Amino acid sequence: MKRILSGIQPSGQLHLGNYFGMMTRMIQYQEKNELFAFIVNYHALTTIQDGNVLKENTFQAACDFLALGLDPKKATFWIQGDVPQVTELTWILSNVVNVGLLQRSTSYKDKISQGLTSNAGLFTYPILMAADILLFGADIVPVGKDQKQHLEMARDMAIRFNQTFREVFIIPEEDINHETQLVPGIDGRKMSKSYDNTIPVFCDEKTLKKKVMSIVTDSTPVSKPKSIDSAIFQIYSLFLDENEKIELKNRFKTPGLKYGDVKNEIFERIWIYFEPYRTNRAHLINNKDYVENILSNGAEKASEIGEIFLEKVRNAVGLNY
Ligand code: ADP
Ligand code: TRP
Repeated sequence: MKRILSGIQPSGQLHLGNYFGMMTRMIQYQEKNELFAFIVNYHALTTIQDGNVLKENTFQAACDFLALGLDPKKATFWIQGDVPQVTELTWILSNVVNVGLLQRSTSYKDKISQGLTSNAGLFTYPILMAADILLFGADIVPVGKDQKQHLEMARDMAIRFNQTFREVFIIPEEDINHETQLVPGIDGRKMSKSYDNTIPVFCDEKTLKKKVMSIVTDSTPVSKPKSIDSAIFQIYSLFLDENEKIELKNRFKTPGLKYGDVKNEIFERIWIYFEPYRTNRAHLINNKDYVENILSNGAEKASEIGEIFLEKVRNAVGLNY
């Protein structure tokens, strides 16, 4: 049995990229493996600097996870900030990571180019992420493609630490699904909260329709075949099985297809697909005590496991005297 671990930032509404890129795959692991899942509110502090917003987003993100099927009886689920051992490990790891490695982070460079303030938290973000992974001895980390470099950095820190002190850390592997690694947004770029091009998983019907209707399409006339190398084809495909995908490909290749009709179908699919999850979520939002109880049990369990690991680290570096 492998230990699977991943986290998500409470930085805004969950979207189809998050859902298909990591969340649904991660949740599936709970059946046959040991799943560790958490909401990374320390990470979100790098960009959200309004206490009420962070607090509300964190609760909403926890409800998302549970509504979409994360089972607290099978998985360990907690809020990152409730297990502060991770910050101690971050400090220790910051002494085995090269500044040059952090400077090469494409995610950091992207965020700066989008106008985010270059605070030290944003710069050292990958160390905190490595601590998240290494503190719990994770074997596999399901993520989208944009996190690949962060995983490489975590591996690098684990290897350096093991070489410098002693073999304490397990070297984690990333798990990226090639079919869903880069879900396009409604403008054709990578779907991302920071590009304001998302299709949210949980929004009202009117908003969903509006978002789907604005998926970018080219100006190919109705009488001509359409390209399947497009956001509209890729987004629709997320909801189709293999046979349905072949059917859709044929429809795109055959003259006469109207993008407007396809968008209506996509809207219907998405709305129906998430219907049971919406019901679950509404229930959770109204049962705050129930959710908080799950999170505090999860934090207690994570904290016990993290503390055992951290003791080994403290011993290895000489902090226990
Ligand atoms: P965002 O870019 O919207 O802020 P996050 O950075 O919070 O998304 O990502 C949370 C998880 O979802 C990560 O594992 C990330 O790799 C994955 N993810 C985000 N956007 C996409 C996408 N468009 N396609 C596939 N996976 C994605
Ligand atoms: N950096 C990840 C993201 O933006 C979130 C994250 C923080 C994470 N710690 C993690 C993902 C540990 C996997 C494992 O999506």
